[in-house]
Amino acid sequence: MSEPLVIRVRNALAGVVNPASGRNIVAEGAVQGLSAEPGGKVRFALQIDPSAQDEAARLLDAARKAAGAVSGVSSVSAVATAHAARGPAATPSTARPAGGHDNPLGLKKRPRIEAAAETLSGVRHVVAVASGKGGVGKSTLAANLAVALAATGRRVGLMDADIYGPSLPILFGLKDKPAMRDGKIVPPEAHGVRAMSMGLMVSEAQSLAWRGPMVMGAVRQLMSDVDWGELDILLVDTPPGTGDAHISLIQSKRLSGALIVSTPQEMALADVRRGVQLFRKTDTPVIGVVENMAWFELPSGERQYLFGRGGAEKAAAALEAPFLGAIPLYPELQQASDAGAPLAARRDHPAAAHFRQLAEKMLDFVDTQS
Ligand SMILES: Nc1ncnc2c1ncn2[C@@H]1O[C@H](COP(=O)(O)OP(=O)(O)O)[C@@H](O)[C@H]1O
Ligand SMILES: [Mg+2]
Repeated sequence: MSEPLVIRVRNALAGVVNPASGRNIVAEGAVQGLSAEPGGKVRFALQIDPSAQDEAARLLDAARKAAGAVSGVSSVSAVATAHAARGPAATPSTARPAGGHDNPLGLKKRPRIEAAAETLSGVRHVVAVASGKGGVGKSTLAANLAVALAATGRRVGLMDADIYGPSLPILFGLKDKPAMRDGKIVPPEAHGVRAMSMGLMVSEAQSLAWRGPMVMGAVRQLMSDVDWGELDILLVDTPPGTGDAHISLIQSKRLSGALIVSTPQEMALADVRRGVQLFRKTDTPVIGVVENMAWFELPSGERQYLFGRGGAEKAAAALEAPFLGAIPLYPELQQASDAGAPLAARRDHPAAAHFRQLAEKMLDFVDTQS
């Protein structure tokens, strides 16, 4: 089957280069609210620099033409919008005394209490990756999805908010304590992704003693005291289940959506339901459910459904959430994860194609969000 229209249009728009930046208009995040109706009606907005009117008009025209040339497109409605005014990321407002729940990462600074809107001001979309229980491969999937997203040219960040079981340092092969700049943590870049984990800031022994308010403070600090810079997507690997970290994320009012990871077992339905309900109750769109460890492929090509077949897809259908596809079991995925070399980066491995497809569905979702 050919790719969905909206993806083909996005790919066509990615062929339009903004001479001012030298980057294509999709990669630089100028294309917003892209949608394609089944009849072929395409809509999007193009963020332009209002100080360069002529250039902007030419760029909009080029974008319209590129979208219009895609087969299946019947009409293109594109509007230009001025750059959203973005204040500096670090606008100090009222400050509270340092320490305690406000500064569990122990940064040498007075914590800044920022308005929710100012936190992550350079980040376009924040997406939570969640699961009902641990061990379903949520961290593995988040890390590989981040790598696959970055390979499409988007600017991607990955925040490991699993306070009690951080796995990003291993998955990405990170060891060093991150540098600080202007009182903020600089996330190291690995595999094309800006990455930050609780595991790089505090020892396991330290964090195990934390209770709810400390966990919530730490998640807030990962959002406001890390210099994420400009990102198209920030994926957040959350702890298993639904708890304090999820609540902090929801309270930040910055989530564009949540991705739920499940294994195929029938039992998974109850877990998936809890996750879906938490996000829905708080008006966070559920982007969809992904089934991990769906099957194991024998050398003959035959598929062995070790944990039952299609459980996550059934769960998604029962909850009226989109089913985003399945990732098979690959022993190499586990080996690559332990070695700090995400398999999504290895184009020759079939797992990479699965993560690429998932990345496209994710972009499909965020590109249709305003
Ligand atoms: N599709 C897969 N194929 C093989 N191993 C996988 C797959 N997904 C995850 N794993 C392995 O399963 C274990 C648990 O995965 P992890 O991502 O840590 O789960 P979670 O974050 O949900 O607790 C890890 O050892 C990981 O390498
Ligand atoms: Mg994990």
